[in-house]
Amino acid sequence: MRFIALVFLVGALAIIAVDCNSEGDALNAFKTNVADPNNVLQSWDPTLVNPCTWFHVTCNSQNSVVRVDLGDANLSGSLVPQLGMLSNLQYLQIQNNSISGEIPSELGNLTKLVSLGLENNKLSGFIPSSLGYLKLLRYMRLNSNKLSGEIPISVLKLVLWGNLKLMNVSDNKLAGTVHHTNKTGFAITTIVQDVKEI
Ligand SMILES: *[C@@H]1O[C@H](CO)[C@@H](O)[C@H](O)[C@H]1NC(C)=O
Ligand SMILES: *[C@@H]1O[C@H](CO)[C@@H](O)[C@H](O)[C@H]1NC(C)=O
Ligand SMILES: *[C@@H]1O[C@H](CO)[C@@H](O)[C@H](O)[C@H]1NC(C)=O
Ligand SMILES: *[C@@H]1O[C@H](CO)[C@@H](O)[C@H](O)[C@H]1NC(C)=O
Ligand SMILES: *[C@@H]1O[C@H](CO)[C@@H](O)[C@H](O)[C@H]1NC(C)=O
Repeated sequence: MRFIALVFLVGALAIIAVDCNSEGDALNAFKTNVADPNNVLQSWDPTLVNPCTWFHVTCNSQNSVVRVDLGDANLSGSLVPQLGMLSNLQYLQIQNNSISGEIPSELGNLTKLVSLGLENNKLSGFIPSSLGYLKLLRYMRLNSNKLSGEIPISVLKLVLWGNLKLMNVSDNKLAGTVHHTNKTGFAITTIVQDVKEI
């Protein structure tokens, strides 16, 4: 009896999960937070059952978002914490826009992320230490923004013990120096940091 009740509950939760379109809601939160003069987000209709037919969004076979490709889209406005809810996201490419504000620490929840492309924007504030949770990350491009502070140790550790192949933080307002370490002899890592006094 208890087992049957449990099965029911799991079934009900599955239906709720599909109905809610939580990934579409997360992306729509970003859409409502940016100016989009070229209407690249026009197809982002939050009333659809999932965001998988939206332009610039790619899903896996389970209809979960794995890519967001919004480079060169002339977007301005800021990123939203809800982006951290895209739990299967592998590629977040929003490079070469005019995105301002801070990098939400919630992006550290994107544990499947392989590439974070936020270069050539107007992002400010610190690099969140939560990005150190992104153990599968291979490409982290944050160059040509207005980021300040130091690169968190947790993020630097990705270079040593994560999969990070390329980290570019050049052309920001970051402080401190980056020691390019290649202790293991395996990591082929490029760290570019312009050190500017604040
Ligand atoms: C980007 O948008 C601005 C208006 O917000 C416009 O003046 C500019 O031409 C646009 N650039 C491109 C490349 O579409
Ligand atoms: C950025 O976008 C502009 C036009 O919108 C384009 O001319 C330029 O090549 C792009 N830069 C990069 C690095 O993609
Ligand atoms: C997402 O990240 C934030 C900040 O790093 C954290 O407080 C929150 O608990 C995380 N949420 C989930 C669902 O993991
Ligand atoms: C790193 O970023 C700088 C500034 O945007 C750019 O000029 C350089 O080509 C980038 N290097 C790599 C290896 O991507
Ligand atoms: C790291 O070490 C390996 C093995 O010695 C070498 O092949 C590789 O080029 C090094 N990477 C860098 C960026 O120096």
